[in-house]
Amino acid sequence: MAEKPKAYQKCINPDCGAEFSCAEAFFKCPKCGDLLDIQYNWDQIDTPKKLADFSKRWATKNNRLDFSGVWRFRELLDFCGDNFKVSIGEGQTLLQQNDMLGEFIGMKAGKLYLQYEGLNPSGSFKDNGMTAAFSHAKMVGAKSCACASTGNTSAAVALYAHHSGMKCTVFIGSGRIAFGKLSQAMDYGANTIQIMGDFDDCMKQVQAVCTELKLYLLNSLNPFRLEGQKTIMYRIIEGLGWNVPDWIVVPGGNLGNSSAFGKAFAELKHLGLINKIPRLAIINATGADTLTELVNNRNLKWNGGRIDNKIINDFYTELTAKNFSPHTCASAIEISRPVNLKKCLRAIELCNGVVRAVSDQAITDAKALIGKYGLGCEPASAASVAGLELLLAEKIIKPDETVACVLTGHCLKDPNVTVNYHKEKGGKFSNPPVESPNDLEQIIKLMS
Ligand code: F0G
Repeated sequence: MAEKPKAYQKCINPDCGAEFSCAEAFFKCPKCGDLLDIQYNWDQIDTPKKLADFSKRWATKNNRLDFSGVWRFRELLDFCGDNFKVSIGEGQTLLQQNDMLGEFIGMKAGKLYLQYEGLNPSGSFKDNGMTAAFSHAKMVGAKSCACASTGNTSAAVALYAHHSGMKCTVFIGSGRIAFGKLSQAMDYGANTIQIMGDFDDCMKQVQAVCTELKLYLLNSLNPFRLEGQKTIMYRIIEGLGWNVPDWIVVPGGNLGNSSAFGKAFAELKHLGLINKIPRLAIINATGADTLTELVNNRNLKWNGGRIDNKIINDFYTELTAKNFSPHTCASAIEISRPVNLKKCLRAIELCNGVVRAVSDQAITDAKALIGKYGLGCEPASAASVAGLELLLAEKIIKPDETVACVLTGHCLKDPNVTVNYHKEKGGKFSNPPVESPNDLEQIIKLMS
């Protein structure tokens, strides 16, 4: 009898549940069009007895896979052979305990942690997913790929495509991308197409283009990407001495991260590697708050995978009728039709999750605090801390609970928002530069 494969793809819709080999590349279930998951036959995989066993790999960091903050956890995403694995040293990120910020926003000492994913090679968490998806692309022999993006996906795709020897095209909404990110896509050699529309328009077009031209799609619809993004959670647990925090707080855009995090915890629990599942707080911007509206106001639920599609369709019809386009200074999460919505609902159920939306003012104020007390981050990332402040005020998160906020992107991705915030003096923490004549006496006077 043939051995069971270690991994396979499976449709998340329980009424379909179709299964496919990992040797194939789809971005939606070919039978019913729903989302695909990667599933594992864990009895075929030599998983560690305890998470701390992964620490052994710190001693063998000269092995490129042990060096990667994604692949050192490779038994937990065992879908391709080592020879296919594309790695450029992603995941060397930092869980920073931050008492100054924590105490400023009313938390007890030692309780707030910031997971700074800006330290990845392309400056955002996306590299965790790209190393996994590009490894799969190599495994299936893909030669050319594409993505839609609010910026960071395009930067990461461009970087990994170059390292994988693949051609790539990135689709971005015209005028909707921060310059740091646009500069990366061009610099790394991507074919960059600016569509006169928003991210949701680009997402629609890229799926059509990938189907038509048989390109490998690298948005988080691609289930292999989410496998890589699970490792952000492993590294948080690792940073806490292999302990699980009480809360994970994460910005929500296309909802790939939140979906991946839920899957990570479901699998760790299934494998007996953790005994508690943290709560998940997903934070939208108020100008792009589809998840908040659907979950908090329209009662949309996972419901064992039998999701009430009518609730979603009615809402999207309303958006179309209003000609709605999302707007927030956190351009990375300026998305109104999140592709991973359904998987995110599953994560919310598993993690007893909460969803909130925060204003651009709250985001930019939180961003300035993270800059002042931490390592800085881009606007979308600061939604996590703004959301934490809101949930502390609502007494949903308690000051003595351990909280890890995921800072998804580097502080230099979007300098315009930062400079405008400080120069316009409108924010609570604005720190504008002072103009001085070129005269020593006056310079010293201005410094006092
Ligand atoms: N934070 C940053 C910095 C992002 O770039 C994104 C998404 C998110 C948060 C949202 O994460 O989609 O997993 O909920 N950026 C995508 C892009 C959409 O195209 O770069 P999510």
